[in-house]
Amino acid sequence: MKKVRFLSRAVPKSVLFIGAVLAACTSFLIYVLRINAVFIDATVFNGFSAILFGGNILCAVLLFALFLLQAHHIEKGGAEVHTKKAFQLFAKIGLVFAGVFLLYTACTMIFSDFEMRARLRTSIGASILPFAATLSILLLVWGLPLIQKSACKRGIAIVLTCVLALSAVLTLFPCYTYKFLSDPMVIDNGESYSVVFATNDTGTGFAEYTYQGKAYKVYDEAAGRLKNSTIHTVKIPKAHLNGNSYRVGSTRVIEERSYGGRSGKSLLSKDYAFTVPSGEQQTYLTVSDWHMHTKEAYKAIANVGEYDGVILLGDAVPGLECEKDIADYIVTFGGEVSHGVMPILYVRGNHETRGPFAAALPEYLGMDSFFYTTDYDDYHFLLLDSGEDKQDSHPEYGGMVHYDAYRANMVEWLETQEKSDKKTITLVHDSDLCVEDDLRARAKVKLGILGATEIISGHYHVCKFEQENGFNIYTDGGFHKDEYIASKLTLTKDNYRLSAWNDKGEQVFGKEIAW
Ligand SMILES: [Fe+2]
Repeated sequence: MKKVRFLSRAVPKSVLFIGAVLAACTSFLIYVLRINAVFIDATVFNGFSAILFGGNILCAVLLFALFLLQAHHIEKGGAEVHTKKAFQLFAKIGLVFAGVFLLYTACTMIFSDFEMRARLRTSIGASILPFAATLSILLLVWGLPLIQKSACKRGIAIVLTCVLALSAVLTLFPCYTYKFLSDPMVIDNGESYSVVFATNDTGTGFAEYTYQGKAYKVYDEAAGRLKNSTIHTVKIPKAHLNGNSYRVGSTRVIEERSYGGRSGKSLLSKDYAFTVPSGEQQTYLTVSDWHMHTKEAYKAIANVGEYDGVILLGDAVPGLECEKDIADYIVTFGGEVSHGVMPILYVRGNHETRGPFAAALPEYLGMDSFFYTTDYDDYHFLLLDSGEDKQDSHPEYGGMVHYDAYRANMVEWLETQEKSDKKTITLVHDSDLCVEDDLRARAKVKLGILGATEIISGHYHVCKFEQENGFNIYTDGGFHKDEYIASKLTLTKDNYRLSAWNDKGEQVFGKEIAW
């Protein structure tokens, strides 16, 4: 009965207007949810998400056009357009499709997992101001003149003008206090230390310290030009920082121009007393696969106790969509767990190889390579980069990766390495090393020759120890089913110990392995 009434009744002008605005908002949400597209397309068919987005835009345009036609009472053949059957048919088709798109989008959002919801918040935050401003202008120009009640008209005009003004002011004048997001992280990149820290807005950055009586102030710059970024990176020789103290600083850049510019508040951190693991007994925090679950990771890490160094084994986020992903989930996380006073050995996870900011990650972290070696007294660390865990042609990579050649280069580099007389530990995100069987076999042969068969890794989101063809492989935990597991590696002269705790305070693993 209701269905018949819906088909026979004329669609009011206000319903067309609300439908058009909701369809515009749905288009915005489909746009910010586009990271899901590859998974949905794989389930339905390739191009489904693009059709959905295009169809919804068409709905928004159709409903707004019909609203304008009806509001202007355009007549054709002596009759008002909105009384025509064709008009009503299009209006109802538009409304039904807009409703379906809205329902689909709402379900996609409601049933998104934690990572997708976090991504959604970031994407909305990054694009809400231009969207709100655009929508307000459209409504002021096209919608407002058609409203007849003057009180209603005045109220809507005030609201839309406020939205426009707020968007403009917030774009030109950031209204939040400039601050560091955390302590710095000091990455041991093999050759030197990269001191990396993040701020909540863009600015310049530097680190300063005194070495052998000489004061150093090292800026984050390129060929003399200071970099303007939320992530600040400077390289410092290892000898300058070992056993020394340093501090970092930043000046907010509100506007960077070819002529002139505008700066804001300057920040200077406390002094950080930096020490490196040394002696026969050394302890390291090892964490992997936090996948944005930093709260759970911090809780688990609080149970690990004290440590001398940090091993980050990758997979901080689903993919590097924006600079904020690196700032929040790698740099801030690294700073929080190392407190800026100990070195971090950073191993890239396969999820850090994805996204539009993945190619810039080496520069952000001040790393020339993700495969390298470093030593701390009696111990030699061999860091490898397994790249992605699927073939380059996989649709998730969108044709933007070339990791087959990258892994071949890494294995060639590995084959040039000479055996260290120190106890050697291999650090890699995926203990499978390479997707390619031949490269994996070559890498394993060489690791055997190098005595680098003790592997500490992540990727599988479990805590386990396996012995396989002469290799001892530890997978250090990560996030799985509402639980995060962090591990501790203790190196001693005769053996090494592996221990792990979850975020509930329970020790979930403990094992001692002789060298
Ligand atoms: Fe992974």
